[in-house]
Amino acid sequence: MGKDGSGSTARQLWGGHFAADAAPLMQRINASIGFDHRLWRQDIMGSMAHARMLAACGIITEAERDAILAGLQRIREEIAQGAFSFRPELEDIHLNIEARLTELVGEPGRKLHTARSRNDQVATDFRMWVREAMDRADELLRALQEVLLDLAEAHAATIMPGFTHLQAAQPVTFGHHLMAYVEMFGRDRGRLRDARERLQECPLGAAALAGTSFPIDRDMTARELGFRQPCANSIDAVSDRDFALEYLAAAAICAIHLSRLAEELVLWSTPQFGFVRMSETFSSGSSIMPQKRNPDAAELVRGKSGRVIGHLVALLVVLKGLPLAYSKDMQEDKEAVFDAADTLELGLAATREMLRSMSVFPERMRRAAGVGHTTATDLADWLVRAKGVPFRDAHRIVGQVVRLAEERGVSLDALDPRELAAIDPRLDEGARAVLSVEASVASRRSFGGTAPERVREAVQAARARYLAATTGDEREAAKAGRASADSGGA
Ligand code: ARG
Repeated sequence: MGKDGSGSTARQLWGGHFAADAAPLMQRINASIGFDHRLWRQDIMGSMAHARMLAACGIITEAERDAILAGLQRIREEIAQGAFSFRPELEDIHLNIEARLTELVGEPGRKLHTARSRNDQVATDFRMWVREAMDRADELLRALQEVLLDLAEAHAATIMPGFTHLQAAQPVTFGHHLMAYVEMFGRDRGRLRDARERLQECPLGAAALAGTSFPIDRDMTARELGFRQPCANSIDAVSDRDFALEYLAAAAICAIHLSRLAEELVLWSTPQFGFVRMSETFSSGSSIMPQKRNPDAAELVRGKSGRVIGHLVALLVVLKGLPLAYSKDMQEDKEAVFDAADTLELGLAATREMLRSMSVFPERMRRAAGVGHTTATDLADWLVRAKGVPFRDAHRIVGQVVRLAEERGVSLDALDPRELAAIDPRLDEGARAVLSVEASVASRRSFGGTAPERVREAVQAARARYLAATTGDEREAAKAGRASADSGGA
């Protein structure tokens, strides 16, 4: 441990009353630089805003501010170029950057930490990182919706079996089925947007927990860092990780949506279904069975959802029972969020490309749509509509028709008209017209229903709702998020 004041270990920076070095095991359990290096852009941005504010409020001189800004700019370049050495003995990203700053610019570097603490610093950095992750997810969700909408439009009239209990239920259109996912991903975007809105309060200036005796301007730093306003309570500012929980909750729900879609792709691509085939670029073969084409990417999207859910639960448990304000337990927030974001973003992109590149087999879907007497409800509805039969009675009559078809081993429309009439004389020739899957689907014209014309309308409405240009504000924010999106590899 150097005694030259250059800050070669964390204790050099803050260990005025410490005589002993950290034990190696202490360093291992304590250091977060192995993962929180991913906050480097946000940390530099936050420090720059803080330095400008300190100067504007007369707490440091303009010359000191300029030295700090130049040093931070240099560090930014060093890290971007991979020329920065992250040191575990300096614990975390905050101390690594501060130590290097002091190495570069001397005394002004040691003034940067005036009127702040790592507690408000990390809370600010992490909020900015999560905000960018929200924007990236929104962008990826939008791109996924775009692919789903194109597919849904192309297959607005492609008939497939709709299932309940995974038993053939009623014919639907493939486009309609896909549009269900457009709605789910639309809600995911809404959840992220809501959470982003609540995240927009800046902890910087809360200092360790109590605020500071220096005449700082919290509005200035909040504004410069893209927040709406400073957090109102300094204790809450450093203790709150709701933004991370809300991101993880939104990510977990989204991952479940991805997983359900992936599960359907897995099912649909079996030879038994044969509705779709994953492109060769998104599947793999078997090392023993030459005929296999496995939907590995879909299986992994399904499997990885477990990690995202796990990270949500992990952080909930970390926070449960923590007294106010900051405790080191909270350092556990970052790996959870980083891995959830990596996993979610990969899953969103892979799902988009799987869908874009897969083949669809409408003929297979059409054939399966008629299996399992899926138009039985149409026959019952017809009895109600054309013959004035109460629905419960119609249901019983058609039940007998289905039993007969099963005994004969034929579909409903292949039954002998005399046999039908024997079950109930009102089952005359008119009944036949409603038994085709085409007629069934075309008749489901209620709002939100599966009729091809409704699906086409739904596609148009969803395009307007989800793909229309975002507001300038949102676009700017999204761009800023992209520009500083970290690669995770720094
Ligand atoms: N690395 C720490 C974290 O991520 C930074 C805050 C440290 N604060 C403290 N009082 N030790 O939580």
